[in-house]
Amino acid sequence: MEIFDKFTRPMRDLRLSVIDACNFRCLYCMPPEREYDFFKKDEKLSVNEAIRLSEIFIKLGVRRIRLTGGEPLLRQDLDQIIAGVAKIPALEDLSLTTNASLLADKAQMLKDSGVKRLTISLDALDPKLFKTMSGNRSSVEQVIQGIDAALDCGFQNTKLNCVIEKGLNESQIIPLTEFARERKLKLRFIEFMDVGNCNQWNLEKVVPSDEVKSIIADKWPLTELEANFFGEVATSHQFEDGKGEVGFISSVTKAFCKDCTRARISSDGKLYTCLFCARGTDLLSLMRQDHTDQEIANTIKDVWEKRTNRYSEERMDALQSPRQHDIVEMFKMGG
Ligand code: GTP
Ligand code: 5AD
Ligand code: SF4
Ligand code: SF4
Repeated sequence: MEIFDKFTRPMRDLRLSVIDACNFRCLYCMPPEREYDFFKKDEKLSVNEAIRLSEIFIKLGVRRIRLTGGEPLLRQDLDQIIAGVAKIPALEDLSLTTNASLLADKAQMLKDSGVKRLTISLDALDPKLFKTMSGNRSSVEQVIQGIDAALDCGFQNTKLNCVIEKGLNESQIIPLTEFARERKLKLRFIEFMDVGNCNQWNLEKVVPSDEVKSIIADKWPLTELEANFFGEVATSHQFEDGKGEVGFISSVTKAFCKDCTRARISSDGKLYTCLFCARGTDLLSLMRQDHTDQEIANTIKDVWEKRTNRYSEERMDALQSPRQHDIVEMFKMGG
């Protein structure tokens, strides 16, 4: 079965957050000077509830699941969630996004439980700048150990995500690209987004992908590639010297809402149809009130079929007036 929203976008991807807590305090996500409340254990999806929801989404047409957080590796029973989700027959891809601070110890567990691909966030190689950007948590050495552990375990197609913020880490564009080329990792540069309410975003702090691209292409000429699949968020480029690829996620300067096939579930079991939502649909309560799979599927279908979200395409108009409502923070919704 496939379901479509108001703009005929199918629901193909599920981003399932397993925890809202994080051991980092990235400036663009959880500014360190603030205090944060996290969901308590019984407010979060249990292992069985996370697996049950994944099964329902797959029946409705989802083919790829990405586990996110917060920091997913902080969840103690993550291996059980992965094992349960990985064995759902129609699932084509199971990936996980992590800051990699705990990856050195957990890479093998992820591989053994059934994760197919990893995406690792890395915003700076310079140790001091790394500390600044992560809110003085962990260290770049620890993250590199995590990346190398993933490579040693045989993970293929591992990607690196780097958010560039103007005046902060442009100096890292070339070193990070060099690092990724050496390790044959696909690095993607993400434009800093106005997601959440607390990251002091403004348009001046965005470095457009075209600028990042030209800095890289001056050193290593690039050729643009076709998308790998419908709805891919990154535009990929090949290094003309044959040493791999680099990608750009241009959510601000070239919005990709037109092909957005992504549903999101927060770790408290709410369904969100866009990163910029103020409210979600509480699927956890439905499960705990003994609704059947069919009833929950009907709720998801109703929500998706009414979906009209296209925030990134509307951003420039939206910025003309102050936000009417707070939107959900990215670490709560899942990245
Ligand atoms: P694959 O292409 O399957 O490897 O994964 P992905 O790129 O969808 O996942 P990843 O978690 O690496 O996404 C990278 C980043 O792109 C996210 O962390 C966001 O910053 C951004 N992004 C992903 N999906 C969306 C989306 O639906 N809307 C917006 N505005 N940004 C998104
Ligand atoms: N803008 C762009 N990307 C962001 N991420 C988190 N917050 C933002 C933001 N405001 C990215 C992280 C990570 C992924 C989960 O989301 O860098 O790679
Ligand atoms: Fe940083 Fe990701 Fe943690 Fe946010 S959830 S603070 S982006 S590591
Ligand atoms: Fe999808 Fe919303 Fe992002 Fe547009 S802004 S790509 S609709 S999540």
